[in-house]
Amino acid sequence: MGDIMLKTENLGISFGGLKAAQNVNITIHNKELYGLIGPNGAGKTTIFNLLTGVYQPTEGKFFLDGEDLTGKTQEAINRKGIARTFQNIRLFNNMTVISNVMVGLHNLPEYKCSPFASMLRLPAHFAAEKKMRDRAKELLDIFGLKEDRNTLACNLPYGKQRKLEIARAMATNPKLLLLDEPAAGMNPHETEELMNTIRFVRDNFDMTILLIEHDMKLVAGICEKVTVLNFGQELAQGNTAEVLSDPRVITAYIGEDE
Ligand SMILES: Nc1ncnc2c1ncn2[C@@H]1O[C@H](COP(=O)(O)OP(=O)(O)O)[C@@H](O)[C@H]1O
Ligand SMILES: [Mg+2]
Repeated sequence: MGDIMLKTENLGISFGGLKAAQNVNITIHNKELYGLIGPNGAGKTTIFNLLTGVYQPTEGKFFLDGEDLTGKTQEAINRKGIARTFQNIRLFNNMTVISNVMVGLHNLPEYKCSPFASMLRLPAHFAAEKKMRDRAKELLDIFGLKEDRNTLACNLPYGKQRKLEIARAMATNPKLLLLDEPAAGMNPHETEELMNTIRFVRDNFDMTILLIEHDMKLVAGICEKVTVLNFGQELAQGNTAEVLSDPRVITAYIGEDE
């Protein structure tokens, strides 16, 4: 295992004639908090869809912790260690907070018991269930959601729904966490709290995080490095402060209505 957690090599995808992403080269080191920014329609979410197997690249490759994951299914990629949240929150709305996290835990080998034991409700089944519940509580505690564990996800305030989505992604025990506009729709107080949560996750889980964000204050506040996409291609990348003061980057954002 090396020092590089994610590497994309000339990654790209076309939809008909539209090159939604092309020649994207991003290198993210272990434990980095890395930003992916750019105007609306630049191809940011498309990159996440490529890195999670939602779309298959039409060009290029990507590697996680040295392993080529190009062409793998969503499930395989998640098992290898990439987890994400979505631009529009996707929770199981009619399930409780704790059940949402347990969904994320279900695929981990340490909580598996044989289908036979589950079916007959043997002690092994209850032991696995209890272990899972304890782990879920631990995660909820970290995200300040333990008291809400029996609430339906749909009844949580917006800021907490965003946190729950991150908690569920973390439950799959990823090496790389992808967050798609986690602060979208948040008020300044919620955004501030979210920034602290993201920092906490990185520091306490030694997590590598790639973050799409529109809120430049958030990006400048927590990302060490960024890549700017424009029309599906890299416009600039490097240290956040340098990139954000690059005139080409400022120009790309002019005319944006947000
Ligand atoms: N499944 C798809 N089919 C056709 N076009 C798509 C598809 N997914 C994304 N696109 C197009 O790719 C471009 C980039 O979209 P997206 O990655 O969502 O941008 P961003 O997240 O940066 O706002 C847009 O022009 C979008 O319409
Ligand atoms: Mg997007």
